[in-house]
Amino acid sequence: MSLLEIKDLHVQAGDREILKGVTFSMEEGETCVLFGPNGSGKSTLLASIMGYGQTKITSGHIFFKGQDITQMTVDQRARLGIGMMMQRPPNVTGVRLGDLVKVTAANGHGCTGHEAEFKMEDFMDRDINVGFSGGEIKRSELLQLSAQAPDFVMLDEPESGVDLENIGLIGRKVHELIYGSTTCGRPVQRVSALVITHTGQILDYIGADRAYIMIDGTIRCSGRPGELLKDIKENGYGDCKSCRTNVKIL
Ligand SMILES: Nc1ncnc2c1ncn2[C@@H]1O[C@H](COP(=O)(O)OP(=O)(O)O)[C@@H](O)[C@H]1O
Ligand SMILES: [Mg+2]
Repeated sequence: MSLLEIKDLHVQAGDREILKGVTFSMEEGETCVLFGPNGSGKSTLLASIMGYGQTKITSGHIFFKGQDITQMTVDQRARLGIGMMMQRPPNVTGVRLGDLVKVTAANGHGCTGHEAEFKMEDFMDRDINVGFSGGEIKRSELLQLSAQAPDFVMLDEPESGVDLENIGLIGRKVHELIYGSTTCGRPVQRVSALVITHTGQILDYIGADRAYIMIDGTIRCSGRPGELLKDIKENGYGDCKSCRTNVKIL
């Protein structure tokens, strides 16, 4: 049984079809990377797996740990062990970051008191994301994920908008999140991850097993992360060799 299985997923925003039949699966302990041009549907795929957003699943199924989660609410999915770092999380006026982290840790498997490791000590009394810089938002998202300690983590462009000084911190924390360090004094095992990246910078900090390229709402091809990234840099998405030769190992 795969950890995550997506079968012929079609997702619509208003009248427009965004995901046009996405099928792929991930095994326990696997890290996969998702590449693709802007607007190809990557964030929509992650939002559909997490179960939030304005888009609607019109057909297809998502299975997690063998259960059909297609119709489940976000909190049901989170309780099953799915966690996510959003590309652009919303501001939450009136809710302090420290309170969210406490509630998340109480409902998840992580714990509180790690804000200094994320350089977030001065943010715990502030409203979530309100006035946060790009890097601060990413660190806040990672702090929340460390409190949740999910079994499957999705990261939507973890390095975007992060300055060179902070990229090391983000990279190390993403590494800890995936490979486990110790959470609340108990060892954590490697978790599965699905990571969207444009630059591939995050791949300096984590090892990825497979990569996929999404174009226009479908997964066009897959391959080794380093090779696909090199191919995209040299040939662009439209003309990338792997997609032209259709190396689709799903
Ligand atoms: N709620 C929505 N309403 C209308 N269009 C949407 C909505 N959500 C996403 N889209 C559109 O779907 C397409 C894919 O978006 P997205 O998944 O964010 O792409 P990516 O993450 O690959 O850059 C974009 O053209 C975007 O404008
Ligand atoms: Mg996106």
